[in-house]
Amino acid sequence: MSQWIKACNLDQVKEGQLFGFNTNDKKILLANQKGNILATDLICTHADADLSTGFLSEEGVRCPLHLSIFNLETGEPQNLPAETPLKTYNVKIEQDEVYVEV
Ligand code: FES
Repeated sequence: MSQWIKACNLDQVKEGQLFGFNTNDKKILLANQKGNILATDLICTHADADLSTGFLSEEGVRCPLHLSIFNLETGEPQNLPAETPLKTYNVKIEQDEVYVEV
């Protein structure tokens, strides 16, 4: 059964920023893409790189290790070498706090 967990305060993931955190057995990435906060798995599906140390662009998050780009809404990789999508999560904002459904 899923539950909403607090990820961070809204000011910890400002526009254009990435934010990674751990909860229970999951590692999750938050990305603020033009004011829209999206959540995916934190670890690249190719070779375990931490995507919070990558780069955010209009296309998605670019892995810092081998430069695959993942669409943040679908989790789908846009280029090789990654082939497996990231899991995506629902996000809600309440009273300047960011929550993720896990
Ligand atoms: S570890 Fe991310 S593309 Fe290789």
